[in-house]
Amino acid sequence: MDGNGRWARERGEDRVFGHANGVESVRSAVRAAGELGIDYLTLYAFSTENWSRPRNEINALMELLVESLAGEVAELVRKGVRLCSTGDISALPESCIAALRNVEEQTSDCKGLTLILALSYSGRWELTEAVRRIVQAGIPAEFIDEDTVRKHLSMPDVPDPELLIRTSGEQRLSNFLLWQLAYSELHFTPVMWPDFREDHFKAAILEFRGRERRFGRTGEQIKSPTASPGGEIPKAE
Ligand code: IPE
Ligand code: MG
Repeated sequence: MDGNGRWARERGEDRVFGHANGVESVRSAVRAAGELGIDYLTLYAFSTENWSRPRNEINALMELLVESLAGEVAELVRKGVRLCSTGDISALPESCIAALRNVEEQTSDCKGLTLILALSYSGRWELTEAVRRIVQAGIPAEFIDEDTVRKHLSMPDVPDPELLIRTSGEQRLSNFLLWQLAYSELHFTPVMWPDFREDHFKAAILEFRGRERRFGRTGEQIKSPTASPGGEIPKAE
């Protein structure tokens, strides 16, 4: 979710105004994901690197998080949205941790969309944590394979994203889900996050659905998987 600051500046407003307007875009994305039958939506809300922003902006973002969680919980429950979080949650202010835990608990039985908030998150942080846990578990080097690493990530049961959407014209991953994005499709749009609404989200999904995903195979293998050897083609989630 990128472009809040620039969106506000273009309007002669403080960056925080952009963040506040981005909340409606989050609602839109959650609504659209629910309508499209998407199982998992992960929002990169605050990165490890975002801690280096001015203190007042960080505070405003944290307050916005607490307010939004409290304001949205009833609607999330009504829609069957289960809220989870990933990242170094212990680094967040107490009020945020409490608000998060409250919503996680209240939505824990919800069976619809799983909405994951990445907070104080970075892909390198997650991978470093995974290495730490593998060492702590005393797993011998010869038993470590990709599956070992995957199982020690923060949310091992969440499938890899099929599609990454980045707003505001930037074309980078910025330390997001580095392991999980290995074979994801990427969608970059110039639209600033506060302007990114349901129609943009749905258009991105529609465009994604028309793409051919080969997972390293040839186009011919994908078109007739039984004609050439090579085993099962990974099923898209
Ligand atoms: C994204 O918008 C929101 C957060 C990182 C919380 P930015 O704040 O990065 O907006 P720009 O990139 O400065 O426009
Ligand atoms: Mg930005």
